[in-house]
Amino acid sequence: MEILNISPVTFTDGRMLILDQTLLPGETVYQELFTKEDVWDAIYKLKVRGAPAIGVAAGYGLYLSVKDIAADSYEDYYKKFMDVKNYLASSRPTAVNLFWALDRMESALQKFDPKLKKTEEASECKSWEQLFAEIREGLFLEAEKIRLEDEASCRTMGEYGLSLLKPGMGILTHCNAGTIATAKYGTCLAPLYIGQERGYDFKVFADETRPLLQGARLTAWELSQVGIDTTLICDNMASIVMKNGWVDAIVVGCDRMAANGDGANKIGTSGVAILAKEYGIPFYMFVPTSTIDINTKTGKDIHIELREGEEIYKMWYAKSMAPEGIKTYNPAFDVTDAKYITAVITEKGILYPPYEESIAKLFENETRK
Ligand code: MRU
Repeated sequence: MEILNISPVTFTDGRMLILDQTLLPGETVYQELFTKEDVWDAIYKLKVRGAPAIGVAAGYGLYLSVKDIAADSYEDYYKKFMDVKNYLASSRPTAVNLFWALDRMESALQKFDPKLKKTEEASECKSWEQLFAEIREGLFLEAEKIRLEDEASCRTMGEYGLSLLKPGMGILTHCNAGTIATAKYGTCLAPLYIGQERGYDFKVFADETRPLLQGARLTAWELSQVGIDTTLICDNMASIVMKNGWVDAIVVGCDRMAANGDGANKIGTSGVAILAKEYGIPFYMFVPTSTIDINTKTGKDIHIELREGEEIYKMWYAKSMAPEGIKTYNPAFDVTDAKYITAVITEKGILYPPYEESIAKLFENETRK
């Protein structure tokens, strides 16, 4: 597949590295993380960002932060593990993959509970040192699994997504749901990469995505690296390109989809969806099942992250583009109502309205914490 060969999060030879996405596109710098504070900071500051990549970072980050914790029993270790888990969970509130990955790590730990005599993994006769060595290995394997599953899921979503598109189409996207927002391939950019390899010749419009410019800095960078025809536009130009007839489909990612199909994604996504409806353009949301939160009933129940106003007028530069101290409102995400979403692309297939039903069917044999 013609795809940017770059990983946003790696854990090899005992070292956790993240690609610092705040420095892109100018510099490609990998930062090594050593502590739980480093992991928290990397997620909060969007050095690692995008719902699935945040999940991968949370898995490895939790392992990194608990692998050397001193404890003298399973109970003692569990308590300390939970303190770290809760701390990392406080880094960003909207992308459910953060909580989903941390919960998976907790479940992986629970398998070693000596009180669970019936499980194969647990055994009361083991010394704490022996059990601790097994716990460490088990936690690392779970973090690896989260990454590998996401990579596979993105590939599959890419194929499903491509089945909805035709060669030569004009495609508009918002924010960045590409390779660096996931373990690999991206969610909504995966079909564009596969299409590129198969000669689909898409014409992509990338919304710049104010205030942190994920579209300009990351999507335009990713796509142009592999030769996909990409035109960067300001967010307020989405309407004119649609009206001009240049957009045949819209593809976006998702940070948390509620059980009724309402989907939170980068601020500005809902406006794009409303415009798409007006212009009769299909609006496709790419949502791995790790991003569907069946315990959240509707979009109204999704916690939208509010970030510092300085991001609006300074971004991370020193010079202000507005009067210092100006009042601001800076929600990082908004919710697109299910009624504007033409189809939801998951790794398990394409879902269509009514989403209450198609999502419930997808999860009929699964419970989540
Ligand atoms: O604030 P960000 O950059 O983490 O927001 C990212 C998005 O909104 C993405 O579209 C979403 O996480 C999907 S990534 C596959």
